Amino acid sequence: MPIHELDRAWFLQTPGSTYALGVTPEGHLQHWHWGAPIDPVHLDGLRPRLYRAFAPNVAGIADPTLSFDTLPAEYPFPGTGDFRVPAIEVEFADGTRALRLRYHTHRILAGKPRLSGLPATYVETAAEADTLEIELVDELDAIRVTLSYTIFAQHDAIARSARIANHGSQPCRLLRGLSASVDFGERAGWRWLHLAGAWARERQVVDAPLQPGVQSVESQRGASSHQHNPFFALLAPDAGEEHGEVFGFSLVYSGNFLAQVERDQFDTARAQIGLNPAGFSWLLEPGEIFQTPEAVLVFSLSGLGGMSRTYHRLYRTRLCRGRHRDQPRPILINNWEATYFNFDEARLLDLARRARSIGVELFVLDDGWFGRRDDDRTSLGDWWPNPKKLPHGLAGLAAAIQRENLQFGLWFEPEMVSPDSDLHRNHPDWCLQIAGRGRSTGRHQLVLDFSRPEVTAAVYDQLAAVLSSAPITYVKWDMNRHLTEVASVGRPAGRQGETAHRHMLGVYALLERITTAFPAVLIEGCSGGGGRFDPGMLHYTPQIWTSDNSDAISRLFIQFGTSLVYPLSAMAAHISAVPNHQVGRTTPLETRGLVAMTGAFGLELDLAACSAEELARLGHLVAQNRAWRGLLATGDLYRLKNPFHGPEAAWMVVSSDRTEALVFQVRTLSTPNGPLQRLRLRGLDPSALYRDAASGQTYSGGLLMAHGLLWPDTEDFHARALHLGSRGRFADHG
Ligand code: DGJ
Repeated sequence: MPIHELDRAWFLQTPGSTYALGVTPEGHLQHWHWGAPIDPVHLDGLRPRLYRAFAPNVAGIADPTLSFDTLPAEYPFPGTGDFRVPAIEVEFADGTRALRLRYHTHRILAGKPRLSGLPATYVETAAEADTLEIELVDELDAIRVTLSYTIFAQHDAIARSARIANHGSQPCRLLRGLSASVDFGERAGWRWLHLAGAWARERQVVDAPLQPGVQSVESQRGASSHQHNPFFALLAPDAGEEHGEVFGFSLVYSGNFLAQVERDQFDTARAQIGLNPAGFSWLLEPGEIFQTPEAVLVFSLSGLGGMSRTYHRLYRTRLCRGRHRDQPRPILINNWEATYFNFDEARLLDLARRARSIGVELFVLDDGWFGRRDDDRTSLGDWWPNPKKLPHGLAGLAAAIQRENLQFGLWFEPEMVSPDSDLHRNHPDWCLQIAGRGRSTGRHQLVLDFSRPEVTAAVYDQLAAVLSSAPITYVKWDMNRHLTEVASVGRPAGRQGETAHRHMLGVYALLERITTAFPAVLIEGCSGGGGRFDPGMLHYTPQIWTSDNSDAISRLFIQFGTSLVYPLSAMAAHISAVPNHQVGRTTPLETRGLVAMTGAFGLELDLAACSAEELARLGHLVAQNRAWRGLLATGDLYRLKNPFHGPEAAWMVVSSDRTEALVFQVRTLSTPNGPLQRLRLRGLDPSALYRDAASGQTYSGGLLMAHGLLWPDTEDFHARALHLGSRGRFADHG
């Protein structure tokens, strides 16, 4: 039984970790341990009972060593002695906010209950997971909190969430309800790592010493954002890519979030993740319940690499859904960087034909096909084909594309409306706005108010009509601005603080309806590139456009950071033209191809401008991807050389049975007469023999990992990929 119960203490045993918590004799739920596996023995005697000056003692208990200010809490609450950051904050009808939560009851169940209205990890059989639910009750019994912990039989991961119920007779206001909070013991010398960036520069790795006080990243933009990702990790002082203790926190949510760690006066660390309390309040009438999003906590004893591989396996197989989850993703061409808004049917068909001739499988028509849209100033919301550009409509174009033996995909931006659109002229109250205030535009557009079910219902009807009108097998779902003037017309004043989260729930509800009604359609998420690359979106869109920066060298950094949490199969990556449209850099085609191939692969360039030789090389890269995409999508990733640390990057993907591997090496800057370097591989079977398909050379796994391969020493070396296939065991070949 992976959840061991021992006298009101619980030991959550995953294959390689233990998470332990228990109830103190006074009834408070206390965090005991999270980390390397331990046996289920009572840890009560090990918990700190400390006398500390200025630490208030728990009311009604004459014990000077008992203080919420020093107790490791499982779900910390404010106002009764814990001065660190709380996980929950409630304003009661009398205006007060103090809480004192105590254990009330618990249950253990096989499997994992669904989270209503929210994306979450899931199981396919009850045997895959066990769930512990612990109900806490406030001393005035006006609030009850149910903490939920799911552990997976196959993964070193714990999915946590909380349900907060108004159990009193008066309304109250939830001001903060985080998904997970963990009180670690002494953490001086530890590091906190997160992903920061900007548009076209998403998810750059930030690895910083854990300082006294609160360090946080957040979004208040209505999307998880380009700027920060709903993820962080705590790293032991000696932890690295493949060794040492790492604790990952990831939130399955796509809107405003908060991720923070507080290192306190005694060098303990409180790590938290959840909905951002900034701008949030939720009215709970008596009997009403609030469900938080889910946080997924991962422990690794083998560094960041181990953490990433756990997230990858779990998110690829038990967060992503639908029939595309396990399917090879189609190799696509997208017309955006080839034509931008400047296309007609003939130009699209010409691009499609050329793409087909080099092996592409799916043609994606990007922005500009609808309404009167010739630039980004108009027509969002008017989702009917522009008759000037597409005289035979979408059905005609899709049929012509199909005749070329290609699938057809289409771009949408369903959450937005242009002020210059029929939709907006007919329904000016359908966008987020505050009466009497101006409405800020971003990229000349407004945000539809998806907190109103009638708005999402109308958008559903529009999308469903288009998807039913032509054989569309793929949708690129874009979102190109952040939320301002976040309020909903007609919502009572006391509930306006709910709008941002209700909006997000509306986005999820629409995605749920569309994916249910059109299960054959593969949806790729997008938000001005990677502005909403998060686990919440992955639940509906198994791949996401990683960045609007398609430059291969910039992508090395962006994809390296993204790979800390997200599987390669989720990261859409395309070969684009040189000089690159975003940064002006010229990068060899081989480098562009191999970097793009490490994600959900495609092309995004004007093939009419390519020479016959370039087309032949593109065709070769497409064929290579077709041969390798199964392994790339399902294998284990090992990051071998970090581009943030020098002019080389290398990574490899190993099949789960370790019989096959792909090794990628890219040099970003040549050093004349440079040092000799070796690349030591990872994840292979040391006693197996592997043959490099290109050179025919055979090496043992042990040699490749302990000794390594010589890095190509020519100055004009840019990139290569090695395909290693196992030829049996070293011993067999004597
Ligand atoms: C932003 C996306 O990231 C791009 O790929 C492209 O689809 C444009 N929007 C179109 O407006």
